[in-house]
Amino acid sequence: FMLKEIFDQPQTIHDCLRGRLDADTGQITLSGIQQYLSEIINAPRIIIIACGTSWHAGLVAEYIIEELCRIPVEVEYASEFRYRNPIIHKGDVIIAISQSGETADTIVAIEKAKEQGAIILGIVNVVGSTISRISHAGAYTHAGPEIGVASTKAFTGQLAVLMLMALKIAHAKNTIDEEKYLLLCKELSKVPDKAAEILLQENKVKAIAKKYAAAKDFLYLGRGYNFPIALEGALKLKEISYIHAEGYPAAEMKHGPIALVDDHLPIVFIATNDTFHAKIVSNMQEIKARKGKIISVITDGDELAAELSDDCVSMPWIDEIIAPILNVIPLQLLAYYIGIENGHDVDKPRNLAKSVTVE
Ligand code: G6P
Repeated sequence: FMLKEIFDQPQTIHDCLRGRLDADTGQITLSGIQQYLSEIINAPRIIIIACGTSWHAGLVAEYIIEELCRIPVEVEYASEFRYRNPIIHKGDVIIAISQSGETADTIVAIEKAKEQGAIILGIVNVVGSTISRISHAGAYTHAGPEIGVASTKAFTGQLAVLMLMALKIAHAKNTIDEEKYLLLCKELSKVPDKAAEILLQENKVKAIAKKYAAAKDFLYLGRGYNFPIALEGALKLKEISYIHAEGYPAAEMKHGPIALVDDHLPIVFIATNDTFHAKIVSNMQEIKARKGKIISVITDGDELAAELSDDCVSMPWIDEIIAPILNVIPLQLLAYYIGIENGHDVDKPRNLAKSVTVE
């Protein structure tokens, strides 16, 4: 199922955008949130609550919403939020993200925020689930049933909805210029085709997986929009291969993880072309100088990053704001093939549940 679901993504992202995004006119229709649009535009703050992979989608959204909409965003683990005495101001908007719509901590966190008068928007995959029912409004991800315990297509569906939402809010709020807005709408509409292009590199990723499958630890590094993708790549590997993996913001590595680097440690860099590219290349040089093994996700034609890497996967060019939705795909494949190489049941990893309906 997991491999099937990874390969479903060109179609599921297409389904998620269908009828919502008209890239030619820049029309974005999200009827589920339309009724609350003015409250969202005027929100003093957005708080995103979620668990697991959905929390990583929330982190990507934090970068994108702050950049495009200029609204402060906080991203909270539902399990922490529910037991704190969270400060919610009048007009704050909560975005709850959940594949299943049944995660116990997220449900209780929503109820708590609701009691304090917040508006709740749910981004949910399972139609009719508890979170979809208790939210004031929201948008479905339309990824279809996800069977593999490690979330793949639901995650890219969450990112697609969050990107649509951020663009819609930014446009309505006038925090994005028209040219950039239309460009990003076009870029988002190209994601399904580019996802299909990336999946053609399956055999290349499989070979990389074979080469590193015996490693005991992995480090995943990214900056900016791709920092949460580093976290998600590490989580995928942990979930299905039982290999210890940590995700870090690349610049933070010198505050600890760099002590782990030796010629046995594979380090996965998400280093596609973006505002931080020169910085991440210098982080790659620091690892290279310490003989770490570099696996990288780079943009086609980036010879400098390719030369620094022991192995790399090349990605088609796309605007940096849209890139995270594509950059996660080779990391899903890498985790999948390392899990398979080590003989694990990737669809039902030990000790994990698809939906965590208890504390
Ligand atoms: C479990 C699943 C994860 C998921 C998390 C949150 O841990 O194994 O794949 O990301 O719950 O679930 P949700 O359904 O709320 O997104």
